[in-house]
Amino acid sequence: MAAGTPARFATPLAELLAARISNGGPISFAEYMEACLYHPEHGYYTKPQAQPDADYYTSPTVHPIFARLIARQLAEMWEVCGQPMPFRVVEAGAGAGRLAADLLDFAARALPAFYAALHYTAVEISDPQRQRAAQRLARHLAAGRATLAATLPEQIPVGCILANELFDAMPVHRLVVEHGALQEIYVGWDGQRFVEQRGPLSTPALREYFARQDVVLREGQQAEANLAACRWIEDVGRRLGRGFLLTVDYGHPAAELYDERHLRGTLLAYRWHRASEDFYAAPGEQDLTAHVNFTALEQSGRCAGLETTGLVSQARFLLALGRANAFADLYEPGQTETDRFRARLQLKTLLFPEGMGETFRVLIQHKGLARPALTGLAPF
Ligand SMILES: C[S@@+](CC[C@H](N)C(=O)[O-])C[C@H]1O[C@@H](n2cnc3c(N)ncnc32)[C@H](O)[C@@H]1O
Repeated sequence: MAAGTPARFATPLAELLAARISNGGPISFAEYMEACLYHPEHGYYTKPQAQPDADYYTSPTVHPIFARLIARQLAEMWEVCGQPMPFRVVEAGAGAGRLAADLLDFAARALPAFYAALHYTAVEISDPQRQRAAQRLARHLAAGRATLAATLPEQIPVGCILANELFDAMPVHRLVVEHGALQEIYVGWDGQRFVEQRGPLSTPALREYFARQDVVLREGQQAEANLAACRWIEDVGRRLGRGFLLTVDYGHPAAELYDERHLRGTLLAYRWHRASEDFYAAPGEQDLTAHVNFTALEQSGRCAGLETTGLVSQARFLLALGRANAFADLYEPGQTETDRFRARLQLKTLLFPEGMGETFRVLIQHKGLARPALTGLAPF
């Protein structure tokens, strides 16, 4: 508990949110989640002392093979686009820059022609995360191969936008079906604690979201809708002239995401590597995240000229890219057999269904290109 925070408030942000709701009335869950993750002073990702690594790990932190195989896929995309100079890779939600650094280090060493054509922009809205990324990327920033930014470039004439676990960190609206009617879940304050309240939809876009995907929720079912992801993808699609959008995230197509296995939705809070459904326990000090709806990403992409190239599991994507050289990229020169053994175990975490192999999926979309064939999507 922060100094000066009354005992009834779990965090300083809880106090601010309680005051906001007391003054202005209940807010949508998306507004609550936006503040929890991105409040300028107290947001989970944006506060000065943000340390999301303490609560969860992502594929880039498991082993650099993840970044190296993505580098190989990007190099092939560059070839498919006719080897333009420059080829822009824009990583959105780059966090502390680990994927960017491993990818650029590998490209510089193993794919020199691609590296010479590459201009990498690591886009991250969190200032502290961007500062960490600046340290990791120092060598590539100095070489003029990389830049850091808080927002997307206006134009990406030719290149690939890369998003690893971006969409799962966007605020979602929460809905529930009550007496056959779609209701929204709002966050209220009863003077002691946050309380959930049901009410009419805050925007007609929510009904359209489900109708467009032919999703009919069951009586009592709770579900999330990530309208921010749809807006983001339409925006980025318009900025891209020619090239690709490569998304890696956990989630499902709509038919699975809203089926009988997910009647309570998929939203979870994460703190110290433990998941919970107590979304109000520590506003700003715990992560909130929901599974990604890949059907919505595909549909929104099409509105901005992005056609689906393919959607595969992370395991299939990495296996397809790694098998050409029997995963030789896993190893560093001079490694001991113990190091090599450890690297193989880490690769299994990325590939195995009980690790990240099947939960995570890779969606590739393209624009301005005729049916591109990519190794990462190749059938086995
Ligand atoms: C779940 S973390 C993943 C970080 C990193 N990609 C990884 O895989 O380790 C999501 C990141 O996306 C950032 N983010 C969320 N929305 C963003 C946006 N619209 N533009 C740029 N960064 C964003 C957050 O600040 C956070 O650092």
